[in-house]
Parts: sequence; structure tokens; C-alpha cells
Amino acid sequence: MKNTILFRQLLDYETNTYTYIIADADTLEAVIIDPVYEMADRDEKLIKELWLTVKYFLDTHVHADHITGSSELKERLGTGQIWVGEQNKGISHNDLFLKDGEILTVWNIHIKVLETAGHTGWCVSYVIDDMVFTGDLIFVRGSGRTDFQSGSNQKMFYNVRERIFTLPNSTKIYPGHDYNGNMSSTVGEEKLYNPRLKEANNYEDFETIMKNLKLPYPKKLEASLPANMKCGHRCG
Ligand SMILES: [Fe+2]
Repeated sequence: MKNTILFRQLLDYETNTYTYIIADADTLEAVIIDPVYEMADRDEKLIKELWLTVKYFLDTHVHADHITGSSELKERLGTGQIWVGEQNKGISHNDLFLKDGEILTVWNIHIKVLETAGHTGWCVSYVIDDMVFTGDLIFVRGSGRTDFQSGSNQKMFYNVRERIFTLPNSTKIYPGHDYNGNMSSTVGEEKLYNPRLKEANNYEDFETIMKNLKLPYPKKLEASLPANMKCGHRCG
């Protein structure tokens, strides 16, 4: 029997970050992916209005551009566990560590953890049914940056090609950010049209593009990294 999934895509318009709430529509058990600290009021209100019980707070990586809302929401809601990638050494205030290939369950919803480093040294993507939540690995017609936090062009290229592009073409991609008004894409679309990672590009093409990005330093990096190493615990 197919699950009935409740799905919400939420935007923090200050940092262009997407937060996702996915819940089993019958039992109202939920998972929240990449909550933003400043948006905790919005998220708490929505979760309560929909009568959801959050089982997991999942971040795709240690963010450099915003502080995670995981600890704040966990404290306010009084339920759930914070899980982070097992290779995020030195992190605290999480409940458990995620392993590559692990499957978390929210009632009948299966959340498969894929290790997809590249944007940082340890990032994960989450596969739920025909959706993949890619964090800052691949965006709609773009990708995350690779120039700090042990980012790696090689790992990004490998993980997009071998771990995301091997999913069915119809798989919907839900990114961690978008700066151009897009909300989602599909694996098939990105294989054709992603200017950095499309199948027509080889690794050298990708590396040349990434080396020439000349991106500004993230505004909130100094505040975000130490706070996110504590899962956003008491950072307000
Ligand atoms: Fe990021």
C-alpha cells in the first residue's frame, strides 16, 4: 500500500534556505529537514496546527550560512531526536549519528541516508519515495560551493554522478537552497540542463567552472559554524 505523505516546502527568504516537513498523513508522525533557527516560530506554529509529532530533526550538513533550528524546535516541541552525519567530528547536542545506507522510518515512510560529501566534508542526502533531498550538493541548475569546510570538487562530481544521477530520472530533487525562484527539479532534468553537473560535462569542465566562481565569503559563517557544531543549541 502506498503511503499518504504530507509534504511542505518552506522558505527562509533571508538565506534562501528550504526547510522540508514530511509526515505520514495517517499517523501524523513527521520528519523535518534543515530547519532554520530564525524560522522556529513559523515551524513550531505549523507543526502544532497540523498536529504533527516530529520524530527526527535532520540536517543535511553543518551549514555555514545559517544556524540550524533543530535544537530550538526540539526544545520547544519536547519530542524527537536530532541525527547528524557520523563523520561530523566534534559535534554535540545531537542524539545519534547517521550512517551511509541507513534507513530511518517515520511510520511507513522510509528515509534512506546517502553519504554525499562535496559541498562539505560530510554531507548527506535523504531519499524518500520518489524524492531526494540533496542539501547543498546539487541545486536546480546549480550546485553548492566547495571552497571551504573540506569541500571537494571530486567528491561533489562523484556523488552527483554515482549517487544522485543513478536514481530514476523521474526522482524529484529538492535542494537546500535556491536563489533564482526554483523549488524543485528532477534527476532527468538536471542530467540534461545543470550547467555544472550535466552529463555532457566531464570532470575537467566541472572543475573549471567551480574554480572560476569567485564567490563572496558567507556573511554568517563566523556565527553559524560554531552554533551548528552544537546543533544550534541555545544560540539565541
Ligand atoms: Fe551549506
